[in-house]
Amino acid sequence: MELTRAIQERRSIRAFKPDPIPKEKIEEVLKLAHLAPSAINLQPWEFIIVCGEEKERLGRRLMKAYREKQISCSPGNVKPLPKSVAKRGALTLEMMNPFFEEMKVDPNQFINEGSCNFYGAPVAILICLDDSFPKSRLVDIGILLGYFLLVAHEQGLGTCPIGLITAYEEEIKELLNIPENKRVVIGIALGYPDEQSPINRFKSPREELTKMVKWIE
Ligand SMILES: Cc1cc2nc3c(=O)[nH]c(=O)nc-3n(C[C@H](O)[C@H](O)[C@H](O)COP(=O)(O)O)c2cc1C
Repeated sequence: MELTRAIQERRSIRAFKPDPIPKEKIEEVLKLAHLAPSAINLQPWEFIIVCGEEKERLGRRLMKAYREKQISCSPGNVKPLPKSVAKRGALTLEMMNPFFEEMKVDPNQFINEGSCNFYGAPVAILICLDDSFPKSRLVDIGILLGYFLLVAHEQGLGTCPIGLITAYEEEIKELLNIPENKRVVIGIALGYPDEQSPINRFKSPREELTKMVKWIE
């Protein structure tokens, strides 16, 4: 598949078939994503692949944590977002509404509980970073994530990055025996897209590019 086409087609998938993914296919995606560049070629990422009954157990634990704590966004905002930026998030949710209506689901519940359960995907991937790395190495994880999403799409798999779960990092680490010095930076739901689900028809909008670009000539 042409890269341009993969970039144009990819979207976050929020409903998956329960079908398991062959291990070799997951390994192929990881192998290609791992070709992502990183500062000084440090390749700071670590992957934890959770599947089968363990994935279900993780989903149940996260759901319990969500019901207890009700945190519905990833932590880390130091001050309120600029209004123009916050508006983009609100617009995206508003545009998702007709799909939620069609599915007869409550939007908040669908997004929050869905994120905790990796939207029913058979595989949950956690990308971790050793806490000895400075914050600036999160850029490398971001690039890796971008590679991962595109490669998975090319291989016929659907993905949704799941930042929400980082609000429950403690619970995840305890359940999966992840050492204290590892940071869980992002989760990814991975599986075969459920093409029958209305939410997977949703294509999120993008801001007019001129609002983001300043040329200095
Ligand atoms: C770092 C990051 C964290 C995200 N966390 C979540 C999440 O917790 N739950 C969710 O449903 N989508 C999550 N998303 C998906 C975004 O909502 C999605 O990428 C955005 O709306 C653009 O839509 P698209 O991926 O379909 O292009 C996340 C995306 C990124 C890049």
